[in-house]
Amino acid sequence: AQRGAAMILQGANVVLGVTGGIAAYKAIDLCSKLVQAGAGVDVIMTEAATHFLTPLPFQTLSKRPVSIDQFQLLRDMDMAHIELSKKADVLVIAPATANTIAKLAHGLADNLLTSTALACTAPLVLAPAMDADMWAHPATQENVAHLTERGATIVGPEEGRLASGRMGRGRLAETNAVLGAIRQVLGRNGPLAGQRVLVTAGGTEEPLDPVRYISNRSSGKMGYALAEASRDAGALVTLVSAPTSLPAPFGVDIVHVRTASEMAQAVLGALQRTDVLIMSAAVADYRPAETAPQKIKKMPGDLTLTLTRTMDILAAVAERRQAGQAGLRLVVGFAAETQNVLANARDKLERKRLDMIVANDVSASASGFEVDTNQATLLTMSGQEALPLLAKTELAEVIVQRVAAMLGGA
Ligand code: PMT
Repeated sequence: AQRGAAMILQGANVVLGVTGGIAAYKAIDLCSKLVQAGAGVDVIMTEAATHFLTPLPFQTLSKRPVSIDQFQLLRDMDMAHIELSKKADVLVIAPATANTIAKLAHGLADNLLTSTALACTAPLVLAPAMDADMWAHPATQENVAHLTERGATIVGPEEGRLASGRMGRGRLAETNAVLGAIRQVLGRNGPLAGQRVLVTAGGTEEPLDPVRYISNRSSGKMGYALAEASRDAGALVTLVSAPTSLPAPFGVDIVHVRTASEMAQAVLGALQRTDVLIMSAAVADYRPAETAPQKIKKMPGDLTLTLTRTMDILAAVAERRQAGQAGLRLVVGFAAETQNVLANARDKLERKRLDMIVANDVSASASGFEVDTNQATLLTMSGQEALPLLAKTELAEVIVQRVAAMLGGA
């Protein structure tokens, strides 16, 4: 699998159904990303899908025959729908037309894809794509509700420009969202199943006036990767996010905040409903003592700002934990350091009474803020583990594995 690809997809058997809509071409990208991540992909196209594109791109990318006709005897499989349905770890239909959704809701099995779906006990992920009025039609809505009740995961559709040229809800979800849904269902029985994980991400913004603020270079990548890795391990994830340019991960409850004070409120307010807290956000230690109500005007001479301390969220969490006011099982902090990395991190581990701290040397150009990689050492009260330079997605998976192991042993 490609470096940084989600571990949960490696070796997974994905049956990808492609139905006849204009968005069918986007399934090529999905197929490609799945293969890059190390999944085995068997594509089934409906006959209608073949009017929009040929099987060739799917066959080329998956390196497997594409199945279309229910009655065509494939080389090694004489009951293609049974064979494929039993092999699947997940059945994904992207795009799923209103017609196919209706058939699935009512148990019709009139082509290879719907027959496979009926015979399949693996989880079903549907990415609907259609005209906005077809999506909004009560028949489609009832069919989707039926399928959801039966356990299907629905991703999208999204709002935007439709093939008709009109704006509305009906666009196929972005490939990353569909991948997120696949990852979530594959990981549903993972080592954090049933655990409520709260992750913080991004750099807080402390306003000076209506147009200016003090912040830091955190992009949120580390925190978002942790939210996704926790979700992939079966956890119920809340992501408290300072402003970032990243799309909300699929299947994660996202709470948008701006300032350290808003982040503190969101985190402390959720403590009773949290088993594991992972504080990867870069929270401001100081904020302007005053926020000017109007834009500060340029004046001759210097401008002196008075900064005041923000609340240390982890310290407040530690106090509540000690007072028995939080049901938390585990708290993980981060230490962004430019010198004496390990000594400073160990000091924070002890002072903030954490179960683990992830020390990252943010002076290294390939590590820390903004970049896609991070080099970290994991410290606990009983030891430390130096990790190589990893993609943030990989580091997130290692952290989640260690968290699961600590919970298992707790
Ligand atoms: O977002 P990216 O671009 O991917 O970058 C990732 C990262 C470098 C921001 C991340 O890996 C990281 O190191 N996050 C912590 C940064 C930081 O604020 O470190 P700190 O040493 O100042 O704080 C130590 C811990 O206390 C952190 O867990 C922090 O969330 C927490 N803290 C800090 C200040 C505060 N007022 N309250 C807190 O709880």
